Amino acid sequence: MLGIILVSVASILPLAAGHSAFYHPSMYGFNVTDSTPIDNRPVAPLRDRTFDQWWFHGHLDFPPNDGDFFELPAGKGVTAEIACDKGATSYYTTNPGGDIRDPDNPNNVCPRRGMEAYHTTGFDDLTGCGLAIAYKNNARDVNPDDFAIFTVNQTCVWTRFTDFQVPANMPPCPEGGCTCAFFWVHSQNSGGEENYMNGFKCNVTGSTSTVPLAKPKVARRCGADPANNKLQSAPGNCTYGAKQPFYWFNLERNNMFEGAFSPPVYNDLYNFIDGPQNDIFENSYSLLPDPAPNAALPVLADVSSPATTTASTPTTTNLPASTSIPAATTSPVTTSPAPTKQKSNTCKIKRTSSSAALAARSLGSEPSSRHRYSIYSMAKRSRRLRPGKRGSLWHMF
Ligand SMILES: *[C@@H]1O[C@H](CO)[C@@H](O)[C@H](O)[C@H]1NC(C)=O
Ligand SMILES: *[C@@H]1O[C@H](CO)[C@@H](O)[C@H](O)[C@H]1NC(C)=O
Ligand SMILES: *[C@@H]1O[C@H](CO)[C@@H](O)[C@H](O)[C@H]1NC(C)=O
Ligand SMILES: *[C@@H]1O[C@H](CO)[C@@H](O)[C@H](O)[C@H]1NC(C)=O
Repeated sequence: MLGIILVSVASILPLAAGHSAFYHPSMYGFNVTDSTPIDNRPVAPLRDRTFDQWWFHGHLDFPPNDGDFFELPAGKGVTAEIACDKGATSYYTTNPGGDIRDPDNPNNVCPRRGMEAYHTTGFDDLTGCGLAIAYKNNARDVNPDDFAIFTVNQTCVWTRFTDFQVPANMPPCPEGGCTCAFFWVHSQNSGGEENYMNGFKCNVTGSTSTVPLAKPKVARRCGADPANNKLQSAPGNCTYGAKQPFYWFNLERNNMFEGAFSPPVYNDLYNFIDGPQNDIFENSYSLLPDPAPNAALPVLADVSSPATTTASTPTTTNLPASTSIPAATTSPVTTSPAPTKQKSNTCKIKRTSSSAALAARSLGSEPSSRHRYSIYSMAKRSRRLRPGKRGSLWHMF
């Protein structure tokens, strides 16, 4: 009932400068305004649209300038700008309304508006956003099931500058780069059912692995969901490995059919862990059963674990990416996970849930790097492993 009231209030709010988009010169639709020729600014929410209208936000005819790419350094972090108006970003010079950045708070997503403009009732109501990648250099060749979410920020949209961690094992892009997109679905407490998608050109740098991403699957709703009276999580029901973005509430080619009060979101509810999605590669799992509420949990393959390689080969440079270089040199990384199961620490990994194992493995590897960034991300991981939300998903046994 409360939800219904909130939704109807939201639908009558002025839409002049609300919502949110990922802004960067590498994006499709960078200069689309409220009159190009219709109001299809990148911040406009996507719902009830035909495929051509929602896919890439209908901006495939507005590509970035040649040479503009969003760089994705393997194993490191990147900072994106997310705002409710181009004028609130570093790219305000090309905004028809000029600079509206908040001088008192450069991180303000939506200056002069409240947080309802970016659809949240507060920090605890954030549902996360993700970046997806397709290893195709021409956006027009990309199909919805080509995109795999490779990084998630579960506390998005909250600050204009939003960090994303790039998995260390991201392989290089083809000649001409890759195609990426930003995806966000907000909470049901703060607005109607809406998707957000902004495409952009991207390129992975500093790769140390050539193992491709696995074919992305549709994510399943598997976490605890008290708002919908589901108190227990069902880890066997999760989709593990590479997962597609959510395509929801449009007229064509949806892959999500959840109702208005149970939006698909980029967090533990759909097994999108906070941070890099390190298990999205063809060799990530040695056992990956079909998900079902009572299915067995998958088993992570112990491939080129940085923890084992750094133990035998001390790092010689400060770059975090170098921690996984030895992995690539032990052998040209094989796509078959089977021969990699000889390490003694696998039983520990196998006992735990896959995502806990991933996190544990990362924790083991990071102290070996002296780079400031690694320490920073280690602190974040520890925080992520604290109870709260995660506890409810993984500690059911
Ligand atoms: C956006 O507009 C600015 C200013 O007119 C121009 O310099 C830039 O090339 C445009 N970018 C794209 C991708 O069209
Ligand atoms: C999400 O972005 C915020 C703001 O930049 C950052 O503090 C946080 O560490 C990011 N989370 C992850 C998992 O990268
Ligand atoms: C992408 O990055 C790789 C590695 O740095 C580089 O060799 C390649 O030229 C880049 N591609 C584009 C299109 O910029
Ligand atoms: C399992 O996933 C499906 C598909 O997302 C969902 O409809 C169902 O409610 C989930 N069941 C449990 C017990 O998590």
